[in-house]
Amino acid sequence: MATATPAYERVKVFSAAIRIFHWLRALSIVILTASGFYISWPYLVGADTTDVLVQGWIRYAHLVCGFILCAVTLVRAYLYFFSKSDIERRSFQDVKNYRSWIIQLKSYFWIGGLEHKGVYGPLQYVTYLAVTLLAVFMCVTGLTLYANVYHQGMGGALWGAASWVTEAFGGLAWVRILHHYVTWAFIIFLVIHIYMAVWMGIRFKHNAVDAIVSGYDYHPKHTD
Ligand code: HEM
Repeated sequence: MATATPAYERVKVFSAAIRIFHWLRALSIVILTASGFYISWPYLVGADTTDVLVQGWIRYAHLVCGFILCAVTLVRAYLYFFSKSDIERRSFQDVKNYRSWIIQLKSYFWIGGLEHKGVYGPLQYVTYLAVTLLAVFMCVTGLTLYANVYHQGMGGALWGAASWVTEAFGGLAWVRILHHYVTWAFIIFLVIHIYMAVWMGIRFKHNAVDAIVSGYDYHPKHTD
C-alpha cells in the first residue's frame, strides 16, 4: 500500500542555544517585572514591620534574574552576529525592502501570503530590536542602581561607570523612575508577542510557538 507524502516539510529554524536563551530571557523578564513592582510597592508586610526578609528575598531574586538578563543580552548579541546559521541576520534584508513591509502589513489584514528571506518579518525584526535595546537600557540602569547600593565587589568595579550614568540621567531618582516606567514596555510587549505568536500559527500554520520549543518550522512541501 502506497503511503501518502506529507504535505509539509520540516525546516530547522532555531538552534538549541537560541531556544534556551529565549526561554531564559522570558523567565527572567517575568520574574524581574513581578519582583521589580514588588520592590517599588512592598504590599506583603506592614509598613512598621520588623520582618524585612520578604523584601530582601524579593530583591535577591530581582538581582539574580537581573544578572541573568545582562548575560543573556550579551550572549544573544554575540549569537546574532556570529552564529553559524544566518537565518536571523538574513531577516535584515526584509527590513530594507519596502515590499516586504507591505506584504507583512497586508498579511495582518488576511490579504495574501507571507514571504521572508530569514526567520522574522520586517515589523517583527524592528520590534525585537527595540525590545533588545530596552533590555540594554534596563541592564544599564539596573546595574547603576545596584552599584549605588553595593559598593564593593562588582558594584565597586562598576562605580565609575554608574556615577557617569547617574549624572547623565540627572540624578539617581531619574535612573530609578525610568527603570520603573520602562517595565511597562515589557508588559505591553509580552501581551502582543504571545498574541501574535499564536495568531501566526492559526493564520499561516507555521512560524508559531512550537518553533521556539522544538526548533523546527513546517512549510508547505513544493512538489515541482
Ligand atoms: C526587564 C528587566 C527589568 C525590569 C522589568 C525591572 C524592573 C524593576 C522595577 C519595577 C524596580 C522598582 C523601581 C522602583 O523603585 O520604583 C526595579 C528596581 C531595581 N532593579 Fe530592576 N528591572 C529589570 C532589570 C534589572 C537589571 C538587569 C538589574 C541589574 C542587575 C536590575 C536591578 C535593580 C535594582 C538594584 C533595583 C533597586 C532595588 C531597590 O531599590 O531595592 N534590574 N527593577
